[in-house]
Amino acid sequence: MSDFEPKIVAFLCNWCAYAGADLAGVSRLKYPPNIVPIRVPCSGRVDPLFVVYALYSGADGVFIGACHPGDCHYVDGNIKAERRIRFLKSILRPFGLDERVGFFHISAAEGKKFAEVAREFTNHIRKLGPNPIRLSSVKVDEKRTTLCTLLLNLTETIEAKEGVYAVEEVPEGFGYPVMNPERCVGCGACATACDQDVITITDTGDVRKVGHYSCYCILCRKCEEICPRDAISVEEGFDLMAFIKREPAVDVELTMRKCTVCGRYFAPEVEIDLLEAENVCPDCRRKEIAKKLVEVWE
Ligand code: FES
Repeated sequence: MSDFEPKIVAFLCNWCAYAGADLAGVSRLKYPPNIVPIRVPCSGRVDPLFVVYALYSGADGVFIGACHPGDCHYVDGNIKAERRIRFLKSILRPFGLDERVGFFHISAAEGKKFAEVAREFTNHIRKLGPNPIRLSSVKVDEKRTTLCTLLLNLTETIEAKEGVYAVEEVPEGFGYPVMNPERCVGCGACATACDQDVITITDTGDVRKVGHYSCYCILCRKCEEICPRDAISVEEGFDLMAFIKREPAVDVELTMRKCTVCGRYFAPEVEIDLLEAENVCPDCRRKEIAKKLVEVWE
């Protein structure tokens, strides 16, 4: 462990921390060579996925250098970046990886501060030891899907714990549908409207289960709009376990009714009662109509 020299990926804003690193060099201030700088136009460009990908690809630590609050050339890129990284760290906490990510405000004039932060962060990572997660075959394709895949892989590698995050901690774009079991009749309109396959309808014998996959929701709210019973609302937020579980969360369970002709369970009781429909499944009803038509023709 004493010979361990960490690899640290540093995403440095062009206008502040990168220039600070330059100034440290010009001023002949020493800082560890463990830091591998990557220049970004603004810390706001640092997608949390870059950080996860760096950790997955073998980095022992990831360092993000941003302008001081109020100094960002793009107004609030640094504020957004800090929020995203705070959120990412809370996701990484159950895996013990949050300590490997650092976010620092360093101006172009703070060469000395850059050298100090680089030294302290390197020592900190050195004490933590090598990153336990080093996989190299992660393909970056669609952003959300990749993040889901990475999180799933992480949970398999290290035992995951429960984690629910408040709305203010979560970046825009994460949410989930909330069903009202008192109003839902299991008609499936929401599942039909959802392009992202968030909502699931599963019939298991005498029960219909209506549920959702949190990770696919893009907050389009089509389900909310189409529901004839106002039984669904989309809320912003993030539930780590719901996000990473492979099974959908079950929100509503409805008792199914049997067809009086064929004996097959075909629709939820509440839906049939609400429509004041007969207890005959669509297949049997079609057959009955066909039979009547034949009788008329004969
Ligand atoms: Fe430096 Fe935005 S320009 S953080």
